[in-house]
Amino acid sequence: MAGLIPQAFLDDLLDRVDIVEVIDRRLKLRKTGKNYSARCPFHDEKTPSFSVNPDKQFYYCFGCGAGGNAIGFVMEYDNIEFPQAVELLAGNLGLDVPREPGRGGPQSEQQASSNKPLYALMEQASRYYQQQLRQHPHREQAVKYLKGRGLSGEIAARFQLGLAPPGWDNLLQALAKTDEQRDDLVKAGMLVASEKGKIYDRFRERIMFPIRDRRGRVIAFGGRVLGDDKPKYLNSPETDIFHKGRELYGLYEARQANRNLERIVVVEGYMDVIALAQHGITYATATLGTATSSAHLERIYRLCPEVVFCFDGDEAGRKAAIRALEATLPCMEDGRQARFLFLPEGQDPDDAVRSGGKGHFETLMAGARPLESFLFDTVSNGLDMDSLDGRARMSKLALPYIRMLPEGVFQQLMYQALAERTGLELSSLMALEAPPPAPLSEEPPDTIEPYYDTGPPPDFDQSAPVMEEAEDQPPARKPPPRGFSNLCQKAMALLLHQPNVARLVEPGELRELEGEDGNMLLELLGLLHRRPESSTAMLLGHWYGTPQGDLLSRLAGQERVIPTEGIEGEFRDTITRLVQDLPHHSKLAAQVDKLKHTNYAEVSELEKQRLRELLQEKVQRDASRNKPR
Ligand code: UTP
Ligand code: MN
Repeated sequence: MAGLIPQAFLDDLLDRVDIVEVIDRRLKLRKTGKNYSARCPFHDEKTPSFSVNPDKQFYYCFGCGAGGNAIGFVMEYDNIEFPQAVELLAGNLGLDVPREPGRGGPQSEQQASSNKPLYALMEQASRYYQQQLRQHPHREQAVKYLKGRGLSGEIAARFQLGLAPPGWDNLLQALAKTDEQRDDLVKAGMLVASEKGKIYDRFRERIMFPIRDRRGRVIAFGGRVLGDDKPKYLNSPETDIFHKGRELYGLYEARQANRNLERIVVVEGYMDVIALAQHGITYATATLGTATSSAHLERIYRLCPEVVFCFDGDEAGRKAAIRALEATLPCMEDGRQARFLFLPEGQDPDDAVRSGGKGHFETLMAGARPLESFLFDTVSNGLDMDSLDGRARMSKLALPYIRMLPEGVFQQLMYQALAERTGLELSSLMALEAPPPAPLSEEPPDTIEPYYDTGPPPDFDQSAPVMEEAEDQPPARKPPPRGFSNLCQKAMALLLHQPNVARLVEPGELRELEGEDGNMLLELLGLLHRRPESSTAMLLGHWYGTPQGDLLSRLAGQERVIPTEGIEGEFRDTITRLVQDLPHHSKLAAQVDKLKHTNYAEVSELEKQRLRELLQEKVQRDASRNKPR
């Protein structure tokens, strides 16, 4: 890759692209008030919480917290790197991307290099586990287990299976040669810090399945117990390099094994993927214990035109199939296909292929139900299709699904097929159109006052598991917090809303701010003082892909709690209060920061008490200040 892309060009590009157009080309947007909305492509949802702001040129999802500018969206959605996303957007506008040698470049290039040590350590960890499977004194049991499941050494090598030996510090001893490496291994989720600050291996006495990204880099692991202990699988947590809602296990291996993929079969488990490969079906992939999302499907459809979903024949399997159907519909551009295979109850693909072999499984797949018949059968289930009422009801149920399809020949065919099945005229069907999804603005309004509480601040993950077991529960999506948890956040939200108010702060006025939010506010002000013309989209771009970037897009998304006028006064007022708070602020911020990086459940009672006191003090001082005098 040539030199870095000049900042001025990026600013210009963001000025020229229209994020609404960029996103609308990829998923259908609906106008809701001054913004646009859709169902979020980055997580699985029924009602749209994904919103695009045309004025400020950014997007934000209230459901999962995804957010950013047009470049960020293209990176996420098309699954490409920063320079490619810039090339693509520039190409659409007929612009050539200039390059300059040296000079500090934009975020994601720095970001990419800062994750380098993590990738390297994950690679080393994978090699270490593979080596243990070959050499460890306890290897026999693991090898016997894998053989017992019908896997050959060749397949184990292709999937780089390994063994985490018994013991608390094997990986720690082997890989954490320096403090920095130890910290990076914690960051990568391979080591865990206990309450008492003791650091130990996350994976112990497990068969290790490395999860590789689309470039083949190891980004996470799944680890299976050797017997029937619980939890059966332990997975890496979310890290800077691993976002489990987007990754597909086995996709890299499938691409390696097939020059041209004709189809991909989506199964549920690691072992299903591997067992299928063992029997010559080398194009299977699995989500990582999450439901299949549109983001997953877009990734697959960029590689091949056909997806076969494979589910258990039981009730849970049917439910999962309906969710998969809903995630698939928006991706069904003309020429793409999806089919649904239900295995006999109690059988998974591993069982099916082991008992019947490749031919048997391929026959099953050939008989999988096409999306259209699965959809129509699902919506007519239990209805009397001989009665007019039953047919009308079926239309009502089917229409919202058909509307989720991108406009095109396939959608037209589906309308026609529905008309045929119900005996209703196409035109009267169209008249039955369901109402558009509720606009986002109907959500309960947030309060403008910063949210303080005597409990833990909202950043704390109270639901975080104390025990490892809980990590393997199906992920319950925790929506990002609403509103602001402190004055710094409020100030940042106002700056994002109207960047030019930055001029109202004297440089140095807030120099003593501390804590993560305080530092972030200072950084934001610093950038705005250096580049006063920055737009919201440019600001989001600057921190894109970093934890600060996530915070900024969340704050930018809280538009509804920003007053429509008097921003300048509101901002100045916030700054004044911050300045008054400075002495107290730093104590609280330091305490909050300290705790933020610990699992709340693991925080000692003493520290919780200290935090409660500080917050209590804060609440009282705020209350007395707000009292009319
Ligand atoms: P399965 O229990 O079907 O997994 O869970 P499997 O691969 O068929 O396992 P075997 O055959 O018993 O060895 C499906 C997927 O759900 C996730 C894993 O991704 C698993 O592959 N899962 C399951 C967990 O993350 N944790 C668990 O405890 C169980
Ligand atoms: Mn299984």
